[in-house]
This record gives sequence, structure tokens and C-alpha cells, in this order.
Amino acid sequence: MSGSERCNPKSTQAKIGIAFLGCGYVADLYQQTFDNHADTLFLCGVWDQDPERLEKFAGFYNLERYHGFEEILDDPQVEIVVNLTNPHAHFETSKRILHAGKHVYSEKPLAMEIGQARELVRLANEQGLQIVSAPSSVLGPAALRLRQAVRDKELGTPRLVYAEIDEGMIHRLGYESWLSKSGALWPARDEFSTGCTVEHAGYMLTWLVAMFGAVTEVVSMSHLCLPDKGEDTPETYKTADFSCALLRFEAGVVARLTNSIIAPHDHRLRIFCDEGELCAQEVWDFHTAVEAYPLALRKFQKRVEKYLGRRWKRRLSVTKKKTTVFASGGHPMDFMRGVNNMALALRDARSTRLGGEFSLHITEVTLAIQFPETYGTPYVPQSSPSPIDLV
Ligand SMILES: NC(=O)c1ccc[n+]([C@@H]2O[C@H](COP(=O)([O-])OP(=O)(O)OC[C@H]3O[C@@H](n4cnc5c(N)ncnc54)[C@H](O)[C@@H]3O)[C@@H](O)[C@H]2O)c1
Repeated sequence: MSGSERCNPKSTQAKIGIAFLGCGYVADLYQQTFDNHADTLFLCGVWDQDPERLEKFAGFYNLERYHGFEEILDDPQVEIVVNLTNPHAHFETSKRILHAGKHVYSEKPLAMEIGQARELVRLANEQGLQIVSAPSSVLGPAALRLRQAVRDKELGTPRLVYAEIDEGMIHRLGYESWLSKSGALWPARDEFSTGCTVEHAGYMLTWLVAMFGAVTEVVSMSHLCLPDKGEDTPETYKTADFSCALLRFEAGVVARLTNSIIAPHDHRLRIFCDEGELCAQEVWDFHTAVEAYPLALRKFQKRVEKYLGRRWKRRLSVTKKKTTVFASGGHPMDFMRGVNNMALALRDARSTRLGGEFSLHITEVTLAIQFPETYGTPYVPQSSPSPIDLV
């Protein structure tokens, strides 16, 4: 690579070198949004332990290939390794990256066990390195607008939150034909065995923690509602495909967070305030509509709704940067934004906004929701009535 390739023409500052570890389905989504941040980032190369996948991905995008994990770790140009391996591989791979003296941007979760996640953050701190876990949608304009509306109390004090990440019956939605641009199949078996809560809760939790502070209490139930998901059902499949948690936040607000791959698609985040409801329609969309449903006309509400044929609402403006490119295939997200945010922090020698303790907290709360049997004891009622006969 020539020196000029690594030089940012706008600021003359050197770009931050990154490498992708893992070239599966999500790697395409990162690659497709890379150009949004080409002023800051330089992709040194990619590697996947599956040679066929590596060849397809690197060939499709014409990228430099590494010949092994060690080669990434030995490459002095690489400052951040973007860990896009499967969730169960995150702990071991991120540990190796940190031991090699490089920063980690990891796809979610940081690790599948809280002890492992803590070890990674401790290791990073000891080494003077940074570690961040996706998602980064909280950096998007819609999340920022909603946060501003909450902070400025545009509809008064927030009292209660309903947040849903229901995905519908994924196993019946034809995922067999979901292919990334470079031809990676959506990894159904891995997704089912990791669990939809670990896969998705972070999209809501990052927004909520950014708005209301740390979670101080978690009460959760998770359950495997549908054990037979067809031919991609994992062997000894026990992972919950539904969870419902009640969360108390530092700011005193309480939220109900639901995750499932059972109930029909619903990704709304609704915040009920003294003077009405704030709503983000689709938290997977960086530019989702953020709406306000004021209660100000309470006395006339019914009449107004009858006249309009719907609820009275106001759209809060969400700034759209027309040049931003989003990932294809129904993923209106800028996946590389989190990596870019980390790179900018490194360049300014400051901590990354979503790094360390923040990512650890999101991982901890996510695991507590998905695995209440491990992280908290549910109350088991002592009374047990016989079925009642109603006829
Ligand atoms: N699939 C999605 O829609 C999606 C969306 C957002 C985030 N994610 C997250 O992205 C991550 C990856 O998911 P995916 O869908 O790309 O999975 P995938 O199975 O399609 O790809 C993972 C790739 O990592 C490689 N890999 C695994 N262990 C490795 C190791 N030790 N060294 C090198 N390569 C290794 C595998 O060979 C595979 O090609 C997960 O953390 C997931 O939660 C997935």
C-alpha cells in the first residue's frame, strides 16, 4: 500500500488501518457501508477460517486477503480488528487480538458469558487498548433525535417505555434464499442457537441506556416457544426464542423489552411521557421516523382522531445525509459507523463513546435477559390451583 492511500486528503491525517476477521453474512453489510468512512478508515485486508468464504468475499470486493489470523495480528498497519466471527467465537478471538496489542470492534455480543466479557474489558484496560461491541445504531440521526426529545422533555417527563424486537416466524419466512451480496447464506442454525435476545436486544438497550442511564434492575422470563424450526433446528436446541424483560433505569424510568422470533415484526420503541408518546417506528433504521403523539388536546382527542381517521401526530425531523450509503437487503444501517467512531476516538487519543464499560453493560443486561435461570432467580409461586371448570 502506498503512503498516499493511507493519507486522508481532507485533513492530511493518516487513516486508521482495520482488518475484518470473518467474511460471512454480516461482513458484506460492513463492506457495503465502508465508503461512508473512507476518509478515516483504511481496510488493510480480510481473513476467514473458511477458505471458500474468504475467496468469495475477497474476490467479490477485490480485497487483500490474509493467509491466517496470525498474519492480521502481525500486520503493523492494522490498529483495529473488526471481529465479525460468530458469537461463540468472539471471546477467544477478541482475546487474541488484545494480546497482540490491537483494538477490537466486535460484533455483538462481546462474549457469550459475562465473566468472559469482563475479562476482555479488563484486558483491554490493562493494555491501554479499546474494545467496543456493536450495534452502533445509537449513533444514527433517529436515535439522536429521540434522545434530544427525551432530554428536552418535548412531551414532558418520560414515565414508561415499551420496546419490541419481534421478528416474526423467521423459520417460515424463506430465509433459505437470504444471500449476502457476495453469496453468504444467512446463518440460520447459528442464529437459532445463539438466540434472538443475544442477537437483537442490544439494538434497543443501547438507545435506552444512552437516554436513561444504566440499568439498575432486570426481571426477565425467556422461553423456547417453538422447538422445531425445521431442517436448521440446532441439535439439542434449548435456546429461548422469546424473552420479556422489565428493566429499571438510573433515571427512574421503567421499560418492558420484548424479543422474539415468533410474534409478527414489530421494532417500535415507544416512550410514554406526561404529555404524550414519543415513538421510533423501526430501531433497525438509522433514519427511522421519530414521531410525537401529544396529549395536549386531550379533551378533543377522540373528535380529532375521528376527523383524521388516525391518531394525531407530529413528525420530529430527523436529519438525513443524502450521501450516506446503507447496507442492502433490508438493513437500512450504516454498519461501519461504530468502527469509524472508534477510529476518530483513537486519532484524538480519547475513549470511544460506546467502548469498555458501556459495551460491557449492554452485554451483561442482554445475557441477564436471555438467561434468567443463570443470572437471576424467578419467583416460583407456591399455590397451584387445579384447572377450573367453567361450564
Ligand atoms: N446475520 C445477520 O443478519 C447479522 C446482522 C447483524 C449482526 N450480526 C452479527 O455478526 C456476527 C457474524 O454473523 P454472520 O451473520 O456474519 O455469521 P456467518 O456465519 O455468516 O459468518 C461468520 C464468519 O466467521 C467465520 N469465523 C468463525 N470463527 C472464526 C475464526 N475463529 N477465525 C476466522 N473466521 C471465523 C466463519 O467461517 C464465517 O464465515 C455475529 O456476531 C452476529 O450476531 C449478524
